[in-house]
Amino acid sequence: MITVRNLEKHYGGEAVLRDLSFSVEAGEIFGIVGHSGAGKSTLLRCLNGLESYQGGSVRIMDREVAELDNEGLKALRRGMGMIFQNFNLMGRKNVFENVAFPLQIWNRTKAETKDRVSELLELTGLADKRFERIHNLSGGQKQRVGIARALALNPGILLCDEATSALDPETTLTILDLLQDINSRFNLTMVVVTHQMEVVKRICGRLLFLDKGQGRSLGRTEDLFLSSEKTLKKFMEEEYTLLPSGTNIRIMFPREIARQAVISAMARELDIDFSIVGGRLERYLDKVMGFLIINVPDGSLENVLRFLQEKNLPREILDDGRDAVERPR
Ligand SMILES: Nc1ncnc2c1ncn2[C@@H]1O[C@H](COP(=O)(O)OP(=O)(O)O)[C@@H](O)[C@H]1O
Ligand SMILES: [Mg+2]
Repeated sequence: MITVRNLEKHYGGEAVLRDLSFSVEAGEIFGIVGHSGAGKSTLLRCLNGLESYQGGSVRIMDREVAELDNEGLKALRRGMGMIFQNFNLMGRKNVFENVAFPLQIWNRTKAETKDRVSELLELTGLADKRFERIHNLSGGQKQRVGIARALALNPGILLCDEATSALDPETTLTILDLLQDINSRFNLTMVVVTHQMEVVKRICGRLLFLDKGQGRSLGRTEDLFLSSEKTLKKFMEEEYTLLPSGTNIRIMFPREIARQAVISAMARELDIDFSIVGGRLERYLDKVMGFLIINVPDGSLENVLRFLQEKNLPREILDDGRDAVERPR
């Protein structure tokens, strides 16, 4: 669907995207995560032909974007919907007028436009807001309008640029659920760009980490949990203050094992005192997984490691110099 190979993008002398390669398959929700300034928005503008690029290749449905003429670019953009952090809606117009806008640009008849807008408002849960002015809507409702408008011309691809970054966590979840629902109902390919790890790991099947214009594939989202890559950990703010003595161990609960039960069994069976440094439960796609960081006194380390191995729990020793994931066979 989308193939990017060795993409180079400069503004003046400054390289913004460097030797970037990845591909997005039809029907998947592909996530691109990275800090502010990493080049995410620039990348999306290269995909939809709003920006030129200086090297490499961007192919959308087997056509090289740089080789498209004006007509080709128009068709490309019609086939790609886009939603934004600040919604980019016409604030003084109503919901209907905003969603109808692309249909009018492409000369759909009044009747066609009315039908299509009704369908879209139904889909996005806005049927009762049809004639509401945009500036009377909540952030979540505005983004629903943005989504309805982006889908008006039946695009094959939806580009989402920080689409939930202006929303509170609860509203973010409702918008992500809507995107997921649309993806599975219409098999719509989505590229979700954000600085929020929470967002991509909730709905994206595969992830790319964009760092100063360079990409690193993070693979499948469910595998991310077990990854021990340093930059990524830091990005995910998993830096806990480790205790200086003893050994700090991160225990992962990749299946929905009752964490509390394992921990109390360990304390009981091994008869040791360990302290809990930190931990949390996280949701990756539809799975809930958790980790816990414990600190074990020196004399008990071997027993604890053996216990974890017996329980088949992946764990990682976090102290400097001994930093490697060791998984049970
Ligand atoms: N039109 C532009 N002209 C010059 N530099 C730009 C332009 N757009 C973005 N940049 C620069 O490119 C880099 C990446 O920006 P951007 O793609 O907006 O990052 P992100 O979306 O990941 O926050 C930044 O350093 C930014 O200052
Ligand atoms: Mg951006």
